[in-house]
Amino acid sequence: MSGPPATPAPDRSSSIGTSGTLRWEGRSLADQLYARTRSRVESIKKHARGPPLLASVAVGEGGPFNVYQRQQGKMAERAGIEFSATLLPEDVTQHDLEAKIRALASDPSVSGVILQHPLPGSLDFLRAVSLLPAAMDVDGVGSENLGRLAAHRPVQVPAVAQASRDLLLHYQVRPEGRRVVVVGRSETVGIPTALLLLLRGPEGDATVTVAHSRSKDLDSILRTGEIVISCVGRPGLLRRSNIAQGAFVVDVGLSTTPDPSRPTGVRMEGDADARDLEGWAGAITPVPGGVGPVTVADLMGNCARAYELLGEDRVRERAKDGGAR
Ligand SMILES: NC(=O)c1ccc[n+]([C@@H]2O[C@H](COP(=O)([O-])OP(=O)(O)OC[C@H]3O[C@@H](n4cnc5c(N)ncnc54)[C@H](OP(=O)(O)O)[C@@H]3O)[C@@H](O)[C@H]2O)c1
Repeated sequence: MSGPPATPAPDRSSSIGTSGTLRWEGRSLADQLYARTRSRVESIKKHARGPPLLASVAVGEGGPFNVYQRQQGKMAERAGIEFSATLLPEDVTQHDLEAKIRALASDPSVSGVILQHPLPGSLDFLRAVSLLPAAMDVDGVGSENLGRLAAHRPVQVPAVAQASRDLLLHYQVRPEGRRVVVVGRSETVGIPTALLLLLRGPEGDATVTVAHSRSKDLDSILRTGEIVISCVGRPGLLRRSNIAQGAFVVDVGLSTTPDPSRPTGVRMEGDADARDLEGWAGAITPVPGGVGPVTVADLMGNCARAYELLGEDRVRERAKDGGAR
């Protein structure tokens, strides 16, 4: 099976701040990705079944998930994808959660499923999401998708990992042969980001170092990066004292900090101290407005891909009949 599709046309006009540090906005790339997904969906719809349908499952009323699901619904509509949201009660059992996932996996009208995480209590996210056939796991977080990515045979790659790679390519920075430092090793963000950039081929072929909370002398490791991709969630982690001059900084981290001066009472922050890096880094992705919008657009691309794969290969017929792998 082929890897994820290539990114749209690169942008040659990323804004240059007065200091010379490029600001890699994600919105124009996200617009291109939506347009491309919409036309993919339109062309499949001509030959095939009904429109693709993305099913989002969350556990726990009253949490942030209702908001996420509303946002996902809007973005799906933008990509021409139908959307359904299920909110399970906080005290749902693992058995009932898995029954819901299985039911969606075998529903012929559903092409992709997202299970919101983290799950409350002792619910096992990986076990539940790994019940999905790889093509329908549009978040790319099940065991099969992670294993296939590691084996250089990706099916669905987590959208957040694609977003970092897509931003680099969009702004004309090919990872090929470059020293990339990925900070963070979660199986949903840091590890897939590192694995994607290690894939053979012109969109990968990077030399990747993965750092984490137990890494000794993180600052020295960071300074080796021509590209630094930070997937931590710790504001101020990256500054000019630990980033090589001219390095490209992709800031995946997202933290909410109380800020009474804002109408919302909070502000979103990345891992990079953008003000400190201004005039030092070669480029930086802003938070918000950098990796975030591209991630959601890439997720919709994965839904179109699920739809194509299910039509082509009848991947659904390989739906698992129970148990995590
Ligand atoms: N922009 C987007 O669209 C998007 C999408 C998804 C996630 N995110 C954001 O990305 C960030 C990471 O998400 P996640 O789910 O991977 O979080 P996570 O599961 O908490 O993983 C954080 C990683 O950072 C490492 N870490 C923690 N403190 C560190 C330190 N001081 N120095 C070096 N490494 C450190 C941890 O190391 P250990 O493994 O040793 O604990 C861990 O590997 C979060 O801020 C999240 O909100 C953004």
